[in-house]
Amino acid sequence: MKILQPLLCAVLLLAGLAWHPLATAQGSTARPLPAANQYSEKGADTCLACHDEEGSAYSASAVFKTKHGMRGDKRAPFGPGNLQCEACHGPGALHARNKKADSINAFRTDGKATLEQRNQACMSCHAGSSRTGWHAGAHERSNVACTDCHKVHKTHGDPALSKVSETEVCLACHKAQRADFHKPSSHPVRQGQMSCSGCHSPHGSTTVAMLKKPTLNQTCYDCHADKRGPLLWEHQPVSENCASCHAPHGSVRPALLSKSPPLLCQQCHSQASHPSLARSANALPGGSAGGAAFLVAGSCSNCHSQVHGSNHPAGAKLMR
Ligand code: HEC
Ligand code: HEC
Ligand code: HEC
Ligand code: HEC
Ligand code: HEC
Ligand code: HEC
Ligand code: HEC
Ligand code: HEC
Ligand code: HEC
Ligand code: HEC
Repeated sequence: MKILQPLLCAVLLLAGLAWHPLATAQGSTARPLPAANQYSEKGADTCLACHDEEGSAYSASAVFKTKHGMRGDKRAPFGPGNLQCEACHGPGALHARNKKADSINAFRTDGKATLEQRNQACMSCHAGSSRTGWHAGAHERSNVACTDCHKVHKTHGDPALSKVSETEVCLACHKAQRADFHKPSSHPVRQGQMSCSGCHSPHGSTTVAMLKKPTLNQTCYDCHADKRGPLLWEHQPVSENCASCHAPHGSVRPALLSKSPPLLCQQCHSQASHPSLARSANALPGGSAGGAAFLVAGSCSNCHSQVHGSNHPAGAKLMR
């Protein structure tokens, strides 16, 4: 008897293994590990048994205060019948048993999940709206992940979604632009009055530099509608490209100018009549040439003050 019992068990076990893998589940100590693609039975309740912690990077309660935690929204992870935590993290039955970090997608760059898998976890619900340009954008091409910008479990909300904190999210990678926005004349981004996404679509677009609107000028007209016209006397470069005179991020010159007048104007107007006259030191105030108006301060715009175009019947030369 003493010999028979274990023998019988072993036979049963082997038979079980051969015919039905689940048969190994005899006895509570030897439950089989679930397959890697198996979801947990109780959803969030399973996860929260271990993950009820609160910290700066992860807060269990924070996720329930966001749109993702809405129980009434059919589309949301916590909506009726949805996969809850595992809608984003993927099947977690195995992880809930083995408690190993590498058995679950934690959206880590150094984790097992590929960039595509990590982004797909979000795109499974978010492929529409402004993400339609995602595959055309520089961010996807440069292996940037949704979660490089978005944080889902933060007590103070997702930093990408507020004007004030968004800028820091972007500048963490875009160091050169940080310098631009510290120049004496700049768009009031640092002051929190507007953000990078006032001009850019961070999710990608088909416009140069992922601008929000189909052209550079249309992007500017969003806020500077007065420059759109129509004007009686247009100044051609203005309707063509604001960036022929302005550095959109920032400049050491006033009004974000990319060069100081008269050089700014002479880039294009060096061939015709008075703008091409040599400006010498004599033309400075007190000099003998009397041409100071051409050189100091506003220079050309001392006379041609309406550089963006004019609606005055006699404004052809952009002077009124
Ligand atoms: C029995 C306890 C337990 C359960 C249940 C559990 N986890 Fe974990 N989980 C852990 C432990 C322990 C770690 C830390 C592993 C480490 O750091 O080595 C962890 C780590 C994680 C991580 C971070 C991995 C990383 O790379 O840092 C995520 C994400 C995670 N769990 C999600 C879940 C989800 C989603 C569920 C529910 C499906 C779940 N966990 C259920 C114990 C559990
Ligand atoms: C909307 C998608 C989403 C949902 C829903 C979600 N998570 Fe996460 N989780 C993430 C992302 C993305 C990260 C990576 C860090 C971040 O972006 O905040 C993460 C990170 C974690 C981590 C690791 C934190 C660390 O220390 O790095 C744990 C643990 C975790 N989630 C558990 C859970 C649990 C438990 C639930 C359900 C109550 C849940 N998550 C629901 C997307 C989600
Ligand atoms: C199961 C579907 C689902 C998944 C998976 C999912 N989301 Fe969402 N998400 C939603 C829904 C629904 C909303 C609310 C949309 C609305 O109200 O218009 C939302 C809202 C958001 C918002 C806006 C939040 C706000 O307060 O306006 C962001 C940002 C976001 N999700 C990012 C992510 C990221 C990043 C991931 C991947 C880690 C992810 N989502 C995964 C369904 C999902
Ligand atoms: C480069 C940073 C960045 C990346 C990468 C990024 N986002 Fe966003 N996302 C933002 C910013 C900034 C906003 C808020 C301003 C806006 O709507 O343009 C936003 C808004 C959102 C919103 C809410 C508004 C809306 O458009 O519905 C959702 C949802 C969202 N992102 C999902 C995603 C998903 C999914 C991915 C990955 C495919 C992703 N984001 C990648 C920066 C980013
Ligand atoms: C994780 C790093 C990272 C973050 C965060 C990030 N970017 Fe980028 N971004 C890149 C990389 C990499 C490129 C491609 C190389 C380059 O042009 O510098 C890029 C390119 C760009 C471009 C140029 C696109 C083109 O076609 O030339 C713009 C505009 C841009 N990002 C805006 C943003 C904005 C706005 C944010 C914040 C909402 C942001 N980025 C956050 C890494 C990042
Ligand atoms: C007032 C609108 C505006 C704002 C605000 C803005 N940008 Fe831009 N950005 C542009 C324009 C326009 C271009 C294209 C310049 C060109 O092609 O002449 C550009 C180009 C870029 C590029 C491509 C490389 C380059 O410098 O030409 C990056 C990267 C970029 N912006 C990042 C950012 C980041 C990060 C922020 C926020 C800190 C930001 N931008 C805020 C208008 C803006
Ligand atoms: C999201 C709104 C927004 C967009 C889009 C925008 N701007 Fe601005 N712009 C502002 C604000 C706000 C100011 C600051 C106004 C103030 O201080 O009175 C400003 C100021 C300026 C100034 C004057 C700066 C100074 O120091 O006097 C110039 C020039 C300018 N913008 C050019 C542009 C150009 C070129 C574009 C397109 C590439 C553009 N803006 C797109 C909001 C915007
Ligand atoms: C031919 C060069 C040139 C072009 C092109 C140009 N600007 Fe200007 N802009 C200037 C100059 C010069 C000033 C400074 C005017 C002054 O000293 O009063 C200025 C000033 C500004 C100002 C601040 C003062 C004001 O008038 O509100 C804004 C805003 C502005 N430009 C927006 C734009 C926008 C938007 C575009 C494109 C639609 C554009 N500019 C195209 C030369 C130009
Ligand atoms: C990017 C090139 C470019 C820049 C920079 C530029 N302009 Fe022009 N400007 C033009 C073009 C093109 C015309 C149209 C010429 C024509 O109709 O023959 C024009 C027309 C003019 C006219 C009207 C000429 C006429 O015959 O009616 C004046 C005045 C003028 N610009 C002044 C300026 C001033 C002042 C600046 C500097 C603030 C400036 N421009 C910068 C390209 C430029
Ligand atoms: C002292 C005032 C004054 C200053 C300063 C001035 N202009 Fe003029 N500009 C004029 C007048 C007046 C005309 C009209 C001439 C006419 O109708 O025959 C004119 C005409 C023009 C024209 C039209 C073509 C032509 O020659 O008739 C252009 C282009 C022009 N100016 C560009 C410039 C540029 C560029 C500068 C700066 C280097 C500049 N102007 C500085 C007064 C000035």
